[in-house]
Amino acid sequence: MAFPKLEKKVLITALVTSAIHLLLIAFAATQLGITVPTCFSDGSRPLDQAAFIKKTDDHFEVQILAKMWSFEPSKIRIPVGSRLDIFLTSLDVVHGFFIKGTNINLMAVPGSIANASHVFRQPGEYQVICHEYCGVGHQNMFATIEVVEEGEGEAFGMTYSQSSAPDPGKAASETDDPGAKGAALYSQKGCIACHSISGEAGVGPTLKGVFGTSVELSDGSKVIADEAYLKESILDPHAKLHKGFGPIMPKLPLTDTEVQELISYIKSIK
Ligand code: CUA
Repeated sequence: MAFPKLEKKVLITALVTSAIHLLLIAFAATQLGITVPTCFSDGSRPLDQAAFIKKTDDHFEVQILAKMWSFEPSKIRIPVGSRLDIFLTSLDVVHGFFIKGTNINLMAVPGSIANASHVFRQPGEYQVICHEYCGVGHQNMFATIEVVEEGEGEAFGMTYSQSSAPDPGKAASETDDPGAKGAALYSQKGCIACHSISGEAGVGPTLKGVFGTSVELSDGSKVIADEAYLKESILDPHAKLHKGFGPIMPKLPLTDTEVQELISYIKSIK
């Protein structure tokens, strides 16, 4: 059946308009350097780095980054009775930010900054969880706010995820053994969510015994899982895809040392 004339006109107009829109978006993104704005509340700078600011003895501000799959900082320490101003954004997808035991419930949306304040009148350890599904590592995404009596333990401030990893990371991050540090990174960076160390395949291939073996790639070719291959697969996960697994692993911001530590750890999983 042929299209009625009017319908054809509407269809063509819609398609042309969409095409123009897409071209304009592509033009803006590539030629004009327009990116999603992530400006700080007073417009002074983008919120792209975590920060902890002491305003007075009982008033603190924390600038938090949410990303797959951690919060920076992952631990905040403040004295009991103090007010905490929270500024929050996301570096990738939409995340949640819920502080258990309070009514602070924010969304971390890339390109915008969420803001809330809370006075912590009760000492204790408040868990912050991501309550918006954000991918395979979602269930491992959390942070803590320690509210302590004045003068108790370490200084007030914030710590990055390196020092707040769940065990065995906690003990390991204090050692000098690269393998142990790699083990800590394995849970902190969310690798644990997809890559088992038990031999079972998950969302991604298991890491057990992978070092030195021959890995079949999605194009049917084979590669030896040596250090170079592991490094490439960590830094550029889609370069050589393990057969049977999709191109879903994100590129993680890792330093050279961290990559080496992860490789040392992977080598040790036999
Ligand atoms: Cu981030 Cu769920």
